[in-house]
Amino acid sequence: MSKPDNQILVIFGASGDLTRRKLIPALYSLEIQDLLPDKFAIVGVSRTQMTDVEFRNSMRDGVQKYSGDIDKSKISSFLEKIYYQKVDAEEASSYRILAEKLSDLRKAMHISGNTIFYLSTPPSLYGLIPQNLAKNYLNNQYDGWKRVIIEKPFGYDLQSAVELNASLEKDWHEDQLYRIDHYLGKETVQNVLVTRFTNGIFEPLWNRNYVHHVEITAAESIGVEKRGGYYEGSGALRDMIQNHLLQVVALIAMEPPTSMQSDAIRNETVKVFQSLRPFKESEIINSAIRGQYLASRIKGEEIKGYREETGVDPDSKTETYAAIKFYIDNWRWGGVPFYVRTGKQMPTRVSEAVIHFKPTPHYLFSQKDRFDTSNQLVIRIQPDEGILLKFGMKTPGAGFDVQNVNMDFHYSDLSHQRIPDAYERLLLDSMTGDSTLYARNDAVMATWKFLDPLLKAWKNDPSVPVYGYPAGTWGPETADDLIEGPGMTWRYPCKNLADDGIYCEL
Ligand code: BG6
Repeated sequence: MSKPDNQILVIFGASGDLTRRKLIPALYSLEIQDLLPDKFAIVGVSRTQMTDVEFRNSMRDGVQKYSGDIDKSKISSFLEKIYYQKVDAEEASSYRILAEKLSDLRKAMHISGNTIFYLSTPPSLYGLIPQNLAKNYLNNQYDGWKRVIIEKPFGYDLQSAVELNASLEKDWHEDQLYRIDHYLGKETVQNVLVTRFTNGIFEPLWNRNYVHHVEITAAESIGVEKRGGYYEGSGALRDMIQNHLLQVVALIAMEPPTSMQSDAIRNETVKVFQSLRPFKESEIINSAIRGQYLASRIKGEEIKGYREETGVDPDSKTETYAAIKFYIDNWRWGGVPFYVRTGKQMPTRVSEAVIHFKPTPHYLFSQKDRFDTSNQLVIRIQPDEGILLKFGMKTPGAGFDVQNVNMDFHYSDLSHQRIPDAYERLLLDSMTGDSTLYARNDAVMATWKFLDPLLKAWKNDPSVPVYGYPAGTWGPETADDLIEGPGMTWRYPCKNLADDGIYCEL
């Protein structure tokens, strides 16, 4: 793989958690793999007063804590690439100092103007920083390309997303804007494309004729931790479904792209979003369930309820669990329900997509329930990354009893391969100008458009309940009723891909 052009990466929000926990460890990993540009500088920017040395020390701690093993011979040369500049992001004149710092670095290192600005700041600054950069001509591409990476959430609802985009478009072209969704950087999420489009056996079955329903879960075993303030204004629907999980839906549901070119893939993604059947106000109560975790005791430890978390309103209605049912109105998926759920403080951390195939048309053997032995393809995103196919087999002995058995592949079996962190892939792509795994504006707008009626109903209609669920459980029981079909419910995944069951990891 060829290295990216020489460049400078500027990280706004450099004193924040994401920089230390994800961005710097990912860049360090790229350094170890010799994938960083030959001439490369990282400039951390925030309001805190710090010297280069102080910032480097803090980044060294981050690498030590989050990267596991450190290669002593490489860490010093990596840290030497890191600089720091205090900038008040809200103060346009403060950017002059940044412009000077960048110009000095470029001269000293013989780097052209190629620059990435990574916004790892509170979302309220996503409009202002690019605007202030432009006021100081830092969007000007006469001496090299300029790109902006914008963390999620991109907007708060459709209107705010449209406004944010309009503000960005005044000074930046769409091809300079990289809207990051770290789920798209996950190896296993990208593998959805490979599984579908490299194996001839799946594609003929991948449609309404053979698929009964599709289920996508992203469960987390942690609560909101120190992010109560942010989460209170967001909730599970905005935090996970609008971006990460709808992107997974798009990869599962899209038509084969004509090529692996960025726009070929992103065009297909958008078509899926544009085919999402809009929620009708009268159906919302039967199509979406929201919940909030309650205090509970897990393995002898007292767990706080959401409303007791720091930064959270004691009467909060913000959902920490959301489950939705919807349809994709196109030829491939007409009539096939899609179910997506996510929640915090659940029994285990697991993200996966499950394709449930239709049962056989004729009931020949002594299955208790035909759905019990329908085929399922489980695409495990994390942990125990891999793929599992469930199918019916004869139970040994007299008669023709049928049981469901597993055929599974685990990434960990590929012993020579480490699964890179999502940020490694995404940062490297942005450095080489590949936006395939970044969300395009029309896709972001289409997902907000789809969820807007739901967000409005949850905000304005007091009759829509917020169900409590004890921390450490699978969310409100009533969410089980969302799934259509006799005796059907969600899959209750365990940490290990091949296991499932409601009590596997409490
Ligand atoms: C983030 C959300 O985007 O994704 C967090 O803001 C969530 O609330 C996280 O915990 C989950 O990411 P991952 O990679 O741990 O599944």
